[in-house]
Amino acid sequence: MSSENQLSLFDESTFNQPDNQQNLIPTSAKIPIPSGTYANMTELAEHCNQCHRCGLGDNRTHAVVGRGNLKAPIMVVGEAPGQNEDETGLPFVGKSGQLLEKILASVNLNTEHDVYIANINKCRPPDNRVPTTDEMAACLPYLLEQIRLVDPKIILLTGATAVKGLTGDKRGITKIRGQWLEWQGRLCMPIFHPSYLLRNPSRESGSPKWLMWQDIQAVRAKYDEIQNSR
Ligand code: URA
Repeated sequence: MSSENQLSLFDESTFNQPDNQQNLIPTSAKIPIPSGTYANMTELAEHCNQCHRCGLGDNRTHAVVGRGNLKAPIMVVGEAPGQNEDETGLPFVGKSGQLLEKILASVNLNTEHDVYIANINKCRPPDNRVPTTDEMAACLPYLLEQIRLVDPKIILLTGATAVKGLTGDKRGITKIRGQWLEWQGRLCMPIFHPSYLLRNPSRESGSPKWLMWQDIQAVRAKYDEIQNSR
């Protein structure tokens, strides 16, 4: 090492800043966010609110990280914030969110005790468009960290974007909803996105709402089975 470089080790700006902290400033998707980066959700949320790993950070009011029990056994993963979520900084607080809460409540699940809610993307896409593959990939490390911190037994993936964003599975949601997937040792259930149910209000046998009722009951049954086997 040259004496110039050795001397730079005495530079005060590097004190108290381990190398990995310097590398973590989330300005580009090229900067890795390794597993174990965040000690808690507050630290993670601070980074999300400064994040420019993709262009969605340019227009956000708030990054939308999550809400619910930070140690929940069930995690719901949505797509991306809409206007209400961008304004409040909380996921699923608009009409879709109200329906999601009702679906969970129908089998006695709630965000106070059993459920934590997050999204594939933390920032609102313009005009609520579907996030691009690059945007999803840029944001994925945050979700992986959230999953590590919450450590849910069951993950509900709402809609094809959530399935693709987390697992890479590109199959349509109609094809795979209701079927348990194993992803990195965790049980995942793809379900319809609540906004799809808002557009398809029929409750007839075989309708999207009816299928959701089957799926959420299967989730409840699996959750009970896991609890009873402990
Ligand atoms: N839709 C989503 O997928 N996520 C939200 O947070 C709100 C609506």
